[in-house]
Amino acid sequence: MNKNDVREGTVIALGMNGEGVLKDNGIIVFVPFALVGEKIRYKVLKVASGYAYAKVEEVLTPAEERIRPKCPVFGKCGGCQLQHVRYAFQLKLKEENITNCFRKIAFTEVSVKPTVRGDDEFRYRNKLQLPVSSDGHGRTLIGFYAENSHRVVPVSDCPINAVWTADVIAAFKEYFELCGLTGYDEKSNSGDIREIAVKEVKGKLIITVVATLNDLPEKNKLIAILQNKVKYVFALYLNINRARSNVIYGEKFIHIYGSKDFAADMLGIRYKVGVQSFMQVNDCVCAKLYSTVCALAEADENTTVIDAYSGAGLMTALLAKRAKKAIGIEIVPEAVSLANLLAKQNGLEDKISNYQGKCEEILPDVIHREKSEGNKTVIVLDPPRKGCDIKVINAVKASKADRIIYVSCKPSTLARDVGLITGTLYHDGSEIKKAENPCGDYVIDSVRPFDMFAQTKHVETICVLARTK
Ligand SMILES: C[S@@+](CC[C@H](N)C(=O)[O-])C[C@H]1O[C@@H](n2cnc3c(N)ncnc32)[C@H](O)[C@@H]1O
Repeated sequence: MNKNDVREGTVIALGMNGEGVLKDNGIIVFVPFALVGEKIRYKVLKVASGYAYAKVEEVLTPAEERIRPKCPVFGKCGGCQLQHVRYAFQLKLKEENITNCFRKIAFTEVSVKPTVRGDDEFRYRNKLQLPVSSDGHGRTLIGFYAENSHRVVPVSDCPINAVWTADVIAAFKEYFELCGLTGYDEKSNSGDIREIAVKEVKGKLIITVVATLNDLPEKNKLIAILQNKVKYVFALYLNINRARSNVIYGEKFIHIYGSKDFAADMLGIRYKVGVQSFMQVNDCVCAKLYSTVCALAEADENTTVIDAYSGAGLMTALLAKRAKKAIGIEIVPEAVSLANLLAKQNGLEDKISNYQGKCEEILPDVIHREKSEGNKTVIVLDPPRKGCDIKVINAVKASKADRIIYVSCKPSTLARDVGLITGTLYHDGSEIKKAENPCGDYVIDSVRPFDMFAQTKHVETICVLARTK
């Protein structure tokens, strides 16, 4: 098999990124946007030892689940991977992916419960992130990155983002043109605007312009354009980022217009969202996820809940309401301030302690202290995609906590971390290996996906671990 060969084959399996997998003369070929059972004509893009990457040239026998994608840039933009698949089948694919991750990474067979879905398959996102670049001929591009790249695919709307998306894009196009502002070029570290980020909080928007400039020109004109085009109450921030790196935000956020943060409520808890707070992207699925975490925690008036990676503290507060106390640990100082405010606003300050810092540094001591007080302990883990640090895993494994609720946004790191906690995997000081005689104090009690990210390959999962002894 050589690069640029055009060949035919039938897809036999699903890959971890939602792609089709087929075998061609002993070589495993990964083909994005191809479905199991489909006969396809494909073009080889890259050949490595034992495997290859290819793209679909033509679907010769389409699967029953294949549908026409809604978005004109589907397949070019890296945002969605599954718009060509009937929604009910997307959920099946995600369940299968989680099963495969546990089988292949953690050497564990799990029975994955049916996925909990939201009300909307489209227009569900409350958070929009639009990189801005230049086409090299003086045209400023606003859009999304192509898959695995930093090349901006221009868009005028996005069907998974909120209804205000097209208006926000149109407003910024008008403003950039008016002021002659250029998009950022990563190679030469030049250009004015790097990104536009928008979060919706209960019908109000927090808009951030990430720029290399000290100040935005014609601020009042930008405010007027936004007021005219986007019919929502909004706050406007400038974030200054001149770093030659692909980290989105610089350290400095400058408040330009509107309220500094906005109030929201969920499941009876009132809270504030600021420009830097982490927010789950799908309000409807988020409420279902948090309710389920609370129910699964089985906390009572004798229970301490440790909420590791606690963000702005909403889940900590929901857990505290049912428990003796709850302890949040979060790295972002602004999120911790908001979590403290949230505890106060909801009359829970006596039941909640929030620590600012890294879980790997704080969690071991917190577990030790709580266990020595003799309380029933539940640990909730909700890390970013890369999963938990090994120090966190070791502390949780040795914790003797009654239950561990792992909330994950990446099945492969979930499987790895659960394998380490339950003992099917171990860390030998430098790498993770399969345990020959698996043993540990925890077993998997349940695994349930939540479709926080419809049309994409991503999925949120709650995995409950129960103590065996
Ligand atoms: C997936 S979010 C979950 C937030 C929160 N549980 C929620 O539902 O809103 C992960 C959080 O972990 C925080 N974080 C990332 N690395 C961390 C670390 N090493 N220690 C503590 N917090 C961390 C992030 O800032 C983010 O708020």
